[in-house]
Amino acid sequence: MAKVLDNIGLSFDDVLLVPRNSSIASRREIDTKTKFTQRVSINIPIVSAAMDTVTESTMAITLAREGGIGVIHRFMPPEKQVEEVARVKRADNVIIEKPTTISPHATVREAREIMKNLGISGLIVVDSENRVLGILTRRDILFEDDSTIVANCMTSRKDMITASPNISLEEAKRIFKQYKIEKLPLIDEDGKLRGLITCIDLLKREAYPNASRDLKGRLLVAAAIGVKENEIKRAELLIEADVDVLVIDVAHGHTSMCIDTIKKLRKIYGDSVEIVAGNVATGEGVEDLAAAGANSVKVGVGPGSVCTTRVVAGVGVPQLSAILDCAEAADKMGVPIIADGGIRESGDIVKALAAGASSVMIGRLLAGTDESPGTTVVKNGKRYKIYRGMASIYAMLGRDFRHREDSVETLIDSSEYSYYAEGVEAYVPYTGSASEILKRLVAGLRSGMSYLGAKSIDELKKNAVFIKVTQSGIRESLPHDVEVI
Ligand code: XMP
Repeated sequence: MAKVLDNIGLSFDDVLLVPRNSSIASRREIDTKTKFTQRVSINIPIVSAAMDTVTESTMAITLAREGGIGVIHRFMPPEKQVEEVARVKRADNVIIEKPTTISPHATVREAREIMKNLGISGLIVVDSENRVLGILTRRDILFEDDSTIVANCMTSRKDMITASPNISLEEAKRIFKQYKIEKLPLIDEDGKLRGLITCIDLLKREAYPNASRDLKGRLLVAAAIGVKENEIKRAELLIEADVDVLVIDVAHGHTSMCIDTIKKLRKIYGDSVEIVAGNVATGEGVEDLAAAGANSVKVGVGPGSVCTTRVVAGVGVPQLSAILDCAEAADKMGVPIIADGGIRESGDIVKALAAGASSVMIGRLLAGTDESPGTTVVKNGKRYKIYRGMASIYAMLGRDFRHREDSVETLIDSSEYSYYAEGVEAYVPYTGSASEILKRLVAGLRSGMSYLGAKSIDELKKNAVFIKVTQSGIRESLPHDVEVI
């Protein structure tokens, strides 16, 4: 016999947070640092969705620079996904471990080609045993013929400023300032090349003081995998590329396939890999995934802006209730949870975290930005970007349709995918820079935390008291009885 639960499922709009006594004088006192997984922390509790119209390397770089983390979607070949991860890892990499080198016998033409293809302004000249002989910068070859030999125009080893591989970034900065150089090769006792620090990378690092970084100072990045047999190979390639977190990304995560995938990864990699698994919408789901070895669990079945799971399958749990239920189990299991889907404004982030999530995953709010993949379209004189559910027809067709093309309509008619779609394609207004959106969301979060007297996200959870509201309460919460300009 079917059971009917007594409690009513609550969504973000069904509640408000009650203000509490606060001693916070300035919002700068508030710390938004949180756990993405058991061992990976981020500085703002915002994660970008693993969707092909939201997160590839450009979005992930912006997210990590602002203090969050991006999850590179899995709807591309593994090699391409690995390249996207590598781009994030290279983005603000202060110490380049394998700098590009050239032989002293090469020609200036070859050097120019390498510099042009890789978009770099200098090459380290090494012998066949990787011993440093000199450095060749764009300036060295400005007036040289293509046929000149590198050895004849490089700055040779004795005139170079170099440092040991263990140099601190502070010391490197001092050297850049003193010698007014742009590149600092790191050389070991045998004269072999061990790395390179560039002045630009050091400056970039300072431009993003709140960035989420790994132990080597590189930006954090996560990547999604599925649960089919060959996804273990994808995971292996991503781990080789130094991905920080693997996200097992399936619509229904409380399944034996998802649990088996976690167990397989644990068996192969032990504790050396951080795994997020999901999605679930019940405490039981969190317990089972955490017991299998997940380091964090993603919560949300059907709350997303382009989701139709609840309509098509009749399944789901209103997101605030799902978070409350899952948070209790997560606490017991010692894992953080990520509230995925349905965030429309900063107030929803405050409510999701107050209800027990450690971070939120966002799709739509980031889909309209410059950093999301895909084309901008103009409709009736207004700019939009295309955003689509990963279970929508176009996404399932597996083609690179990031904007709608009429010729494709016929394909859909003949495809049985249309029976299984649990998502839609949509236009979202073009909203400019993702970092501006993130700054606005974090400002709202800080405001909410200050109303609750919470200096940290843990305090926000402790101090949270929700009050249920009626339709009149919701109406009262919005601008009313005025004509908004
Ligand atoms: P928002 O509300 O931020 O939600 O746009 C993003 C989340 O939506 C989920 N997602 C889907 N859910 N059908 C669904 O039922 C889909 O086609 C679909 N595509 C994405 C996903 O969890 C994402 O992070």
